Amino acid sequence: MLKIDNIQKTFNVGTVNEVKALENISIEVEESSWVCVLGTNGSGKSTILNAVAGSFPVDEGSIVLNGVDITKWSENNRAKYIGRVFQNPFKPRGL
Ligand SMILES: Nc1ncnc2c1ncn2[C@@H]1O[C@H](COP(=O)(O)OP(=O)(O)OP(=O)(O)O)[C@@H](O)[C@H]1O
Ligand SMILES: [Mg+2]
Repeated sequence: MLKIDNIQKTFNVGTVNEVKALENISIEVEESSWVCVLGTNGSGKSTILNAVAGSFPVDEGSIVLNGVDITKWSENNRAKYIGRVFQNPFKPRGL
């Protein structure tokens, strides 16, 4: 099971470009289940996936995979357990 508990992420803190991308996000995904995340452009869907993949550290909250807290793990270490397909393979950040 993937358990995302109360994660938060703000980009460019303290600048004119500050964006609160994730605020109090909690999701539980059972093994072998499908989850569909819906939201408007810029609502944070890709940021959730990036947070799970470890593209950046989250400001608050935890990410637990099969009972193991991976919140502080590097993206490289998570890659053994987490796979994803980018919408645009030439622009990986823009899922
Ligand atoms: N690495 C980043 N640096 C700065 N801001 C970012 C970064 N990643 C995402 N954002 C900002 O966070 C917000 C959420 O973006 P995100 O890409 O997660 O939205 P989305 O729901 O995936 O949108 P879309 O439907 O267009 O794919 C946006 O305001 C975006 O500009
Ligand atoms: Mg997206």
